[in-house]
Amino acid sequence: MTAPAALDRLQKVLARAGYGSRRVCEDLIAEQRVTVNGQVATLGDRVDPSTARVEVDGVLAPIAQDLVHYLFNKPSGVVTTAMDPQGRKTVLNFVPATPRVFPVGRLDLMTEGLLILTNDGPLAHDLMHPSRGVEKEYLAQVVGDPQPAAIRSLREGVALDDGMTAPAKVARVSESLLRITIHEGRNRQVRRMCDAVGHPIERLVRTRIGGVGDAALKPGQYRELTLPELTRLATAVSRDPGPSEPREAK
Ligand code: URA
Repeated sequence: MTAPAALDRLQKVLARAGYGSRRVCEDLIAEQRVTVNGQVATLGDRVDPSTARVEVDGVLAPIAQDLVHYLFNKPSGVVTTAMDPQGRKTVLNFVPATPRVFPVGRLDLMTEGLLILTNDGPLAHDLMHPSRGVEKEYLAQVVGDPQPAAIRSLREGVALDDGMTAPAKVARVSESLLRITIHEGRNRQVRRMCDAVGHPIERLVRTRIGGVGDAALKPGQYRELTLPELTRLATAVSRDPGPSEPREAK
């Protein structure tokens, strides 16, 4: 019996997703590192890339053919919504119109830096979900030069009108410049934290999302996330994390 047209050989699907040549992907399957819908895959398996849940080393593989994942460096003054009633530029003005993507979370109008845009609903959902605790790192240029007591407060948690903030990583990079890493995603959180300790923010730039950063990406530029970056993000949001050092497959 011939296989239905929608089914592709697993090694072909993996190779297309960037895991290496078909031969390399056959080896991954033979080494039992690949599962399809929870079952260890075997050579000869075929899958429907639009519906199958394929994991490599326990990390969800981005196999659907129409999925795109962009890393965008948002300039200040650009809104993180699909449409702006006031006619301002939105983040969607900077990436291809098709396939249609949406921002993963949001940055304030005046905040700059890294933002993921994708049509991968499950990954976006996981990245935004507070329970997954994905780290977001910011450089904050503040008014004044925060002293150790203020930095300690930011680290331990500050009282905001919607409750205490979770412990954060905070380092003084230089006078008036802080590196702040949080894993919550409350509205205007970093600005409100710095306000709360008496050091309002003058400039805020997001420099990392999970294990993904790119100091060479200029404001207004975007690029596709690489497979190793996607693997790191999928690992970061996984309830059952895979190996701590994901395979660099591209
Ligand atoms: N925290 C803020 O205050 N603003 C952002 O845009 C992101 C995090």
